[in-house]
Amino acid sequence: MSRQNAIKFKFVQNVNNPKSIHGIFPYRGKISPIDAINILIQLPKKGVLLDPFCGSGTIIYEAKKLGHCVIGVDSNPIAIQISKGKFCEFDINESIQKIRLIIKKIEKMNRYFSLPDKVKKYFHEKTGSEIMNLKEYYDEFNDYEKAVFLGTICLAARGCNHYKWSSTQIGQISNDKKYINFYEKFLTKLRKHYYPVNSIGSQIILSDSRQLTNYLREKSVDYVYTSPPYFDALDYTSNYTRLVHLIFNNDVEDIRKKLIQRYDSYAEDMKKCFDEIVKVTKDDAIIIFVVGDKKRGNEIINGGDYFSNLFDRKPTYIAQREYTNTPSKIWDKINKTHRKEQIIVWDKSTW
Ligand SMILES: C[S@@+](CC[C@H](N)C(=O)[O-])C[C@H]1O[C@@H](n2cnc3c(N)ncnc32)[C@H](O)[C@@H]1O
Repeated sequence: MSRQNAIKFKFVQNVNNPKSIHGIFPYRGKISPIDAINILIQLPKKGVLLDPFCGSGTIIYEAKKLGHCVIGVDSNPIAIQISKGKFCEFDINESIQKIRLIIKKIEKMNRYFSLPDKVKKYFHEKTGSEIMNLKEYYDEFNDYEKAVFLGTICLAARGCNHYKWSSTQIGQISNDKKYINFYEKFLTKLRKHYYPVNSIGSQIILSDSRQLTNYLREKSVDYVYTSPPYFDALDYTSNYTRLVHLIFNNDVEDIRKKLIQRYDSYAEDMKKCFDEIVKVTKDDAIIIFVVGDKKRGNEIINGGDYFSNLFDRKPTYIAQREYTNTPSKIWDKINKTHRKEQIIVWDKSTW
């Protein structure tokens, strides 16, 4: 793409490939890797790409595969663990062997461990004990194994409830739980998602993007490409992620405080991030936000308009499209809305 051409936001039918590495964990607000690639291949040259709200690392993983150096930042520790898992190269056969030995050891000891009280209702008791048995070895896992372990917890919860929950949202809890062999699921998932990318030239940082300049050099980044937390304040500690937090006894309240997900301070928080983004990017950097229309009460708020008016700098251009065959499209059908998605581009070379 020459700098004169606008980045095109293509109409894609397929948004996900469940067999890819991105199927490791059902992270809330996960961007489609196919979409991410469509934008990434239009960037004019290879450079340093920052995703300041990297979540499960979809954009940085795809950018690294295409030859960029990448920096991912997120303040949710689960997001960071999943992202790190995607940048972890090792011998998968050795890993499977190692996990098999651990499982054998566990089965020999035949110990029963109970899940924390708050999370018991989501799992079959035997599955729960298997999760807690394996969790004893969590610190011995590499980043990929850790990420897959967390994803397997979600898959097992779904299975224990007869797979009636969607792959992104938890649903009703079944009274008659199905037993899911956690060990088997873990081993299967380990093999299924192993498409690692080399970690050299990548940085994944657990931190707050309101303070990017605390740990990134000024004028060091060529591209920012991100899907930011939204002004409808999605809770990134809820849903499947909440089950994991409960199992690990994480202080969810404390994690929430570090996340931008409050209506009242949203605009101020995002302005802080944008100011920081402007500082860490080079003078000719391209900044891309993928956003969307949101429903507030009976009103639909246009994502492009909202973000255009949020920051002092006006976008260079905004491209818009309708949702395709995604959960968002289904949501639109149910709510009788016709929301759109936008990419907002600030080209600093025009400032
Ligand atoms: C829309 S999600 C990004 C999803 C990501 N594109 C993916 O594919 O998984 C937005 C992310 O912003 C993160 N976030 C919220 N407030 C933050 C902050 N102050 N600093 C860094 N990350 C934050 C959330 O934890 C969440 O992972």
